[in-house]
Amino acid sequence: KKVLFSGIQPSGVFTIGNYFGAIKNWVSLQDQYRCFFSIVDLHAITVPQSPQELRKNSRNSLALLLAAGIDPKMSTLYYQSHVSAHSELAWILNCYTNMGELSRMTQFKDKSQKQGENIRAGLYNYPVLMAADILLFQTNLVPVGQDQKQHLELTRDIAHRFNNHFSPTFVIPEPYIPSTGARVMSLQEPEKKMSKSDENKNAFVCMTDDTDSIIKKFKRAVTDSGSEVRYDSLNKSGISNLMEIYSSATGDSYDEIERRFNGQGYGNFKQAVGEVIADTLKPIQKEYGKLIDDKGYIEEIIKESTEIARKVSYKTLAKVKKKVGLVLPI
Ligand code: TYM
Repeated sequence: KKVLFSGIQPSGVFTIGNYFGAIKNWVSLQDQYRCFFSIVDLHAITVPQSPQELRKNSRNSLALLLAAGIDPKMSTLYYQSHVSAHSELAWILNCYTNMGELSRMTQFKDKSQKQGENIRAGLYNYPVLMAADILLFQTNLVPVGQDQKQHLELTRDIAHRFNNHFSPTFVIPEPYIPSTGARVMSLQEPEKKMSKSDENKNAFVCMTDDTDSIIKKFKRAVTDSGSEVRYDSLNKSGISNLMEIYSSATGDSYDEIERRFNGQGYGNFKQAVGEVIADTLKPIQKEYGKLIDDKGYIEEIIKESTEIARKVSYKTLAKVKKKVGLVLPI
């Protein structure tokens, strides 16, 4: 089987952007690939985190991924910080990555602007750790949202360069970006990506939000002054985003949605999007409710999958250490 790797930061409760952009595809691809899914806690600390919150979010994240349909019998689901090969390979790759390449990363430029003068070196090196995550597992496919595309290109560049400089070492990974849901926008500022760390709680819908708050958030969603449900991402970014969300959940095309809501105005459509999303999330939430208290089951999964992830990743790490000339341990 070909290998699939992806990661998610436990920096808050996952949003429907995370779900449609990534998690949903992880679930649907997991029987065709040998899958590794990592809760990337080391990436989360590249920006300020409260230790208690981070620990809580990390624990809940695992249960939520299982509830969403990640099957621990098929996929290896683990915490990045439990497998030290991630940090080790990241350091080595840092020594084969140019500062110019990292300075061009748009996510770094965006995030560092928010950090003021004290930009953490970890934020700058973030994409190298991500490259290490992916390359450790000889990954063929990386299902991500649109915002990770540039990081994936850098990963490919780093891998190519390393392979050419030494000898073939890493598989060159391909991105998998869904045609709808790859960039779910904020409900309050539709020009901005929906993010779990947004200060405005009305801007995003969490996978654990209850039906009432989901519907309220969609009803409050910012739209243009028109009244026609029509897809036009340039001039009607708010309504187009809601249509994309609706389409991601139902599989309906924009044409079908336009026909169904023809002449009904925004109010009805917003209500319908809210209901569809609440229905999509309900079974996941029910399962989450059961799993969150089953500490024994979760611990068992972590133990087994961490062991697998360590074993597989150390093979690549050992190869890399040898190629760059480090003395091998006895
Ligand atoms: P993170 O934690 O920000 O997001 C996890 C996944 O969700 C996608 N995503 C979205 N998709 C659509 N619309 C949105 N509004 C939206 N917000 C987030 C992201 O594209 C991502 O696929 N750097 C990664 C984590 C990572 C990783 C990796 C991913 C670390 N190592 C190796 C793949 C492979 C990140 O910050 O994701």
